[in-house]
Amino acid sequence: MITGATGFIGSRLLERLVRDGIQGQPVHVVAIARHPETLPDALRGQVECHGLDLAEAPLDAIVAACGQGAIVYHLAANASVAGGKAAARSNVRATERLIEALRGCAPKRVVYASSIGAVDRAPDDPCTEPLDESAPAHPLTRYGASKLEGERLVAASGLPFSIVRPTWVYGPHMRADSHLRVFLDMVRAGKLASRINFAGRVSVVHVDDLCDALLLAGLHEAALGQTFFVTDNEPVSLGTLFHELGEITGQSAGAIPLPALLASPARALRRWLPLSVQCLNSDVLMATSARLGALGFAPRVARRRGLVELARSTAPMGDRWIVTGAASGIGRALATMLHAAGHAVVAVDYDAAGLEALRQECPGTIPVHADLATGNGRALVARAIDDGPLAGLVNCAGIGARGDVRDVPESTQSRVLAVNIEALADASTRAVRRMAQQKSGGTLVNVASSAALQPLPGMAAYAASKAFVLSYSEALAEELAESAVRVITVCPGGTDTGFQASSGVKRVEGEQLMPASAVAARMLAAIRRGRSTTVLMGGRTHAMALMARALPRQVLVRLWGRLMGKLR
Ligand SMILES: NC(=O)c1ccc[n+]([C@@H]2O[C@H](COP(=O)([O-])OP(=O)(O)OC[C@H]3O[C@@H](n4cnc5c(N)ncnc54)[C@H](OP(=O)(O)O)[C@@H]3O)[C@@H](O)[C@H]2O)c1
Repeated sequence: MITGATGFIGSRLLERLVRDGIQGQPVHVVAIARHPETLPDALRGQVECHGLDLAEAPLDAIVAACGQGAIVYHLAANASVAGGKAAARSNVRATERLIEALRGCAPKRVVYASSIGAVDRAPDDPCTEPLDESAPAHPLTRYGASKLEGERLVAASGLPFSIVRPTWVYGPHMRADSHLRVFLDMVRAGKLASRINFAGRVSVVHVDDLCDALLLAGLHEAALGQTFFVTDNEPVSLGTLFHELGEITGQSAGAIPLPALLASPARALRRWLPLSVQCLNSDVLMATSARLGALGFAPRVARRRGLVELARSTAPMGDRWIVTGAASGIGRALATMLHAAGHAVVAVDYDAAGLEALRQECPGTIPVHADLATGNGRALVARAIDDGPLAGLVNCAGIGARGDVRDVPESTQSRVLAVNIEALADASTRAVRRMAQQKSGGTLVNVASSAALQPLPGMAAYAASKAFVLSYSEALAEELAESAVRVITVCPGGTDTGFQASSGVKRVEGEQLMPASAVAARMLAAIRRGRSTTVLMGGRTHAMALMARALPRQVLVRLWGRLMGKLR
């Protein structure tokens, strides 16, 4: 039986029990909620629903709903941190009445969903260690105090119980006013606070991992009468959370360090600050689920995957995009952002393991395992383009080869030209023709490089191939100016990906490479602006463009010959 079955966690547990049963066996599930009619029809048809307000429904109606011998997951609560009368009513009064009703129902176990908020931190706690179950309870909010009172009621009830204290729970359908969801909205809106790299760490847990923990607490013999924190055991700073959400949504976040001048006093004065401000600089809401781990609890959802899923679940359904070179680097970063923004992403690459890793993080992406240097590979891309309406194609796949013309193997040079020029031109032509026929048009994004701006002795074929991309794409943009198809050409400078290693380029000591996610974010911003454009990225790329314009061609080539010899 689940109380609060229409809530964020309750509905996920309900779905889980209906889908998987318990230990592979189907189970009879009873759902208690104030408004069970809000459950999806398909789910409602498979469970026994009772529309009850536990704080005031007649006791015999609650008894009738509880039945005999149930495992009860008590998740009904007012989970708003502000607390107040509503929290007292739903967290204390409703728990009292449920316990009263259960007395004659011989429940197998009552699993009470409490919260880390029932414990928080004592004023003199230095917040250096994660909370465990031996920590004294010192709730800092009225919500937390009401959850602690709920714990006491359950523990004193004489019923067989387990208490679960989740830390911040996140996942699809979480409430819009809840921690990570609020952070996501702040990052998307580019709020100043989300740009700061706050050092305070919190523990979070994905709702599916929490469902594992709840089931374990309800079934494991050794969980009887015990209390457990539930976290993913990877405390994370708020700055890192902002940064990760920024990487997923294409925003700059969590990057500005907070001066020690502000952070240190904030830590020293912690006890006098509101909880939300304490959390910015101190590890207040950090806990360990080692005790539940000893019973077999092992979180399964990697945070990055969970955050991508959260972002996608709050985005409108988007159209279909194809991204080549999607298994790593810039292509992977952009494919992730498009997926998180709700688009259907077809991910093309010849690195099957990389495509699988992308699919793990972004379930639902459609992998196309294709070597673009071959006719077969290009045919697979053509098929993907023809497969249905297409919002955009990103030609990100590109390879390079460092070396003198006398040394670079012919086959390597052919691959460079085949992938960077032939495959890109084939796919661009096909996609543009398709998108020009669509009422909604479409967007072609071609990734050139700062190498496109001048000849590069030592990487001759690569630079020439990128010069082709730049020239070709800018010409297409002009040809398509009157149509609904936009063409965006991007010229990133040195970017921190596997490109340098795979093309034999030396890394220059101390060289600042751009993060792939920053390049992808600029691309996403250009896509969203909805205009054909060429984007030069990075200070060095702009300097190279200036040099290319200012210097006589011969001088430029000679200069780059020297620079490449020395630097690369
Ligand atoms: N989300 C988190 O980060 C988090 C963290 C730690 C602990 N928890 C705990 O986990 C549990 C579930 O939280 P949640 O995030 O799923 O919250 P939620 O989405 O707000 O769900 C709470 C559910 O309880 C129902 N409810 C409230 N008062 C009720 C009453 N008097 N009688 C019957 N049902 C009532 C609500 O129904 P209505 O829809 O009708 O209001 C709602 O369906 C709570 O105990 C919460 O304290 C949550």
